[in-house]
Amino acid sequence: MRLDLLTLFPEMFAGVLGSSILKRAAEPLKDPATGNVRPPVVEYHLANLRDHTTNKHQKVDQPPYGGGPGMVIQSQVVWDAVHAVEAQDPRPATRVVMTPQGKPLTHAIVEQLARKPRLMLIAGHYEGFDERVLDALRDEPAGLEEISIGDYVLSGGELPAMVLLDAVVRLIPGALGTQASAHDESFSSELGGLLDYPHYTRPRTWQGRDVPDVLLSGDHAKINAWRLEQARQRTADRRPDLLGQPAAIGRSTITVLR
Ligand code: ADE
Repeated sequence: MRLDLLTLFPEMFAGVLGSSILKRAAEPLKDPATGNVRPPVVEYHLANLRDHTTNKHQKVDQPPYGGGPGMVIQSQVVWDAVHAVEAQDPRPATRVVMTPQGKPLTHAIVEQLARKPRLMLIAGHYEGFDERVLDALRDEPAGLEEISIGDYVLSGGELPAMVLLDAVVRLIPGALGTQASAHDESFSSELGGLLDYPHYTRPRTWQGRDVPDVLLSGDHAKINAWRLEQARQRTADRRPDLLGQPAAIGRSTITVLR
């Protein structure tokens, strides 16, 4: 996947793209067991919106018509940046603008985006973008998605873009390496959209608290049944709203858990 990040603050992405899973996903990775090398599964391209201004001072924003606080990012710079970046690669981009007015992000949306050949995330700042550029981008064949990461307002779309890209990249096959997998975790289809079950590791007793006996039984059918029941109970206690959703009904494949 090619990931294009359009922002006024590209430096904000350095830590996230240069660490952990997101970093490894962009590098060839050798499987220590087989010696096989998988090629990078993602390439990141950062673009500074300011590089697409045509005025001497590289100004990107103006006060809002009608008055009010803050500044609004002008249409032309966003339009030019999107089309210049798109022209760098023939793969069609799925364009997403991060905004608190967007569709709330869910695991189902993340799964869909992880299958795309190219994703363009556009991060705004200040009071957002002139509405006309969003309308114009939406009216093109490539369209435009608007996504929110929750009902609160951050000072810009950069952190939301990082949240979305982390969630997407870890689902691309091969991103997590050969050992780890994104299966059987909260919201996954393997867990039928439920919250994850509890996990335990050594020691068997810690501060007087024991690991549940069933996990030491070696009986995998029993373990799977117990985990699914735990996932159901947790979801009912903590997020009953999820139980009514289609993903939580009948799609569980927990019986094939290792
Ligand atoms: N920009 C500012 N706040 C945001 C949010 N909650 N989601 C997406 N983009 C945003």
